Amino acid sequence: MADQEYLQFIEKVKRKTGIDLSQYKETQMKRRLVSLYEKKGFKSFQEFFLAMERDEDLFRQFLDRMTINVSEFFRNIQRWKVLEESILPGLMEKKKSLKIWSAACSTGEEPYTIAIIVSKYLPFSNVHILATDIDENALQIAKAGVYSERSLQEVPLDIKKSFFHKHGEQYMVKDEIKRAVTFKKHNLLADTYETGFDLIVCRNVLIYFTEAAKKEIYQKFSKSLNDHGVLFVGSTEQIFNPEHYQLRPIETFFYQKIHS
Ligand SMILES: C[S@@+](CC[C@H](N)C(=O)[O-])C[C@H]1O[C@@H](n2cnc3c(N)ncnc32)[C@H](O)[C@@H]1O
Repeated sequence: MADQEYLQFIEKVKRKTGIDLSQYKETQMKRRLVSLYEKKGFKSFQEFFLAMERDEDLFRQFLDRMTINVSEFFRNIQRWKVLEESILPGLMEKKKSLKIWSAACSTGEEPYTIAIIVSKYLPFSNVHILATDIDENALQIAKAGVYSERSLQEVPLDIKKSFFHKHGEQYMVKDEIKRAVTFKKHNLLADTYETGFDLIVCRNVLIYFTEAAKKEIYQKFSKSLNDHGVLFVGSTEQIFNPEHYQLRPIETFFYQKIHS
């Protein structure tokens, strides 16, 4: 498979969707997309794109394959304990309400996890959680707030009982939790970033991006944080040279915006 061909595919996808695949790590992305098109019986990116233009369902499958929506409630539960026990008390010291962003929230497990944790300390009226993702299908699932047991495997029993309604095999997030979260489509690589956040949670997406794209995103996150606000990243996503972005590590995977 010629690189030139992939480059042309990237160009066409960008024109059609605004999504810039060149900012995602090439080897991984190519491998995922080639395995999809081969499964569908195509022989090249060119054939694949032509078919995608005609077939809405194939286009949706392409988006699904490139976005990787895997998520679960309390993913890496130890990290959420650190958030609750070491980070939140500091954030709430000076403020009675919190503005939080779950960036690349996938199907909603992450922002709902945040809402559940924060609700132990603040009334819902004082918690504003923006949850964004590039993938509209994932956001639809997130808004519905209905999950299978598999998404809840890390959730402690008392939390399952307090924050979910069980219907057969399905768990529905209670309305009070849903109301704390606003879902919105947002492309981290192209759209403007809101500001004034006390906490930004962005986990398990930056690993897919090139170094250059990551640097730009860190810079933008830093600008979006209030002084002393905190960025919480995924378990393989430590930031090299956080001081370049006016950030300092305060716990593993947590970075605080340095007062400017
Ligand atoms: C593996 S999921 C991470 C979900 C959640 N943060 C977690 O850690 O469980 C990665 C998400 O990143 C989203 N994503 C990929 N590229 C994106 C972009 N350019 N802007 C915003 N979201 C993006 C995908 O749609 C997917 O839902």
